[in-house]
Amino acid sequence: MATRGDGSTVRSAPAQTAGPAAAVVDVGDYAQLARMRGPNPMYDVVVDEIVGRRIRVGDHWLTDFASCNYLGFDLDPEIAAAVPGALARWGTHPSWSRMIASPRLTVDIEDRLAALLGAPDCLVLPTITHIHGSVLPVLAGGGEVFVEAHAHRTIHDGALTARARGARVRYFRENRLDHLDRLLARAAPGPRVVCVDGVNSMTGNPTRLLELSRITRAHGALLYVDDAHGFGVIGERGAGETSPYGRRGNAIVRYLGLDYEGIVLVGGFSKAYSSLLAFIACPTATKNLLKVAAAPYIFSGPPPTASLATVLAGFRVNEERGDAIRTELHRLTVRVLDGLDTRGIAHLNRSGFPIIEIPLADADHLDELGHLLFERGVLVTLVPYPVVTREQVGFRLQITAANTDEEITGLLAVLDEVAERFALRAAT
Ligand SMILES: Cc1ncc(COP(=O)(O)O)c(C=O)c1O
Repeated sequence: MATRGDGSTVRSAPAQTAGPAAAVVDVGDYAQLARMRGPNPMYDVVVDEIVGRRIRVGDHWLTDFASCNYLGFDLDPEIAAAVPGALARWGTHPSWSRMIASPRLTVDIEDRLAALLGAPDCLVLPTITHIHGSVLPVLAGGGEVFVEAHAHRTIHDGALTARARGARVRYFRENRLDHLDRLLARAAPGPRVVCVDGVNSMTGNPTRLLELSRITRAHGALLYVDDAHGFGVIGERGAGETSPYGRRGNAIVRYLGLDYEGIVLVGGFSKAYSSLLAFIACPTATKNLLKVAAAPYIFSGPPPTASLATVLAGFRVNEERGDAIRTELHRLTVRVLDGLDTRGIAHLNRSGFPIIEIPLADADHLDELGHLLFERGVLVTLVPYPVVTREQVGFRLQITAANTDEEITGLLAVLDEVAERFALRAAT
């Protein structure tokens, strides 16, 4: 038996590893993934060529609806053109840990990012996974961490590291904020950190940040928000906005008109900005604490020069054309959502943001569905249990501004066939 974040237990299923001394490894909750890896063509795909959002796997072409490059910066010539000059000046990879030294590009990014977010300060590290695993334990100390049950797996892992360092970890559900309120009221004095996804990576829906921040502020707790999927896509609302995603892509805190009092925002460039880098937006005092207490700052290698260059070029493109790109992203996403609604196919997206999960009526059909979608040339993210709850097992589509109308039309035709052959959940 394994214990889930919400305290419930599940049966573990053993999986055989290949090899001479094939050992039985307990993959616990991940049995469905373990069964799919290998036989399912939609797992561990090796891509031989990329042309726009078309990818070639051997001699088979697919359209990529599993990309998180929401703004299409991975394919933007202006952004790619920033790389050679940076490499000539800085080399491919100054390999200092950040504690020792950083190329000026890195601090330029921190300054520009803080200005874009309207946050007091920012610290960048290579990935969000690094940040959750190292920053959460520092912020929690010997206090308490409260994790939303559906938060990203990397937050759960960071919380468990915090527990190993002396913090208590508790779980709550976003639809039961009264429970969080009571947990906070009963918490012992000391640090209390409440962790949530900003835009949820599976449903595409934003968290209830307004209510959450009211509760955490009332209890003097810190609200820790991972907006990996909102950063670059949604931003401040108001005059001049050209789509309901708002302006400038400066993430969920600004999208909801909040300030950073009692909130730290974590985000990454590896989705909308197509670059390997992540950040925590926090007060300068917290940044200085992390410079001596967060292991990746002291011990880890830095992000590569090419990524630093593409982030800086991304800021420029974001200011010049970002809102136009987001308007196109919104238009394409609405085409898919309308297509699903017209067909009566249920999905979890209530936001209009470009992440669309379509649940299957029978979770056991996921493997077969993966085969069909692969054959029909549509790359998606298969979403088994326990990545989502059993009721939500299905597949996830992500739309990017680099997808074309023709590709969306092709996707909807394939979804017609999927709806014919598999029991999907009916829209309510
Ligand atoms: C919500 C969320 N947090 C964190 C991560 C991990 O980010 P990184 O690749 O920067 O470690 C992801 C990646 O899929 C994510 O969706």
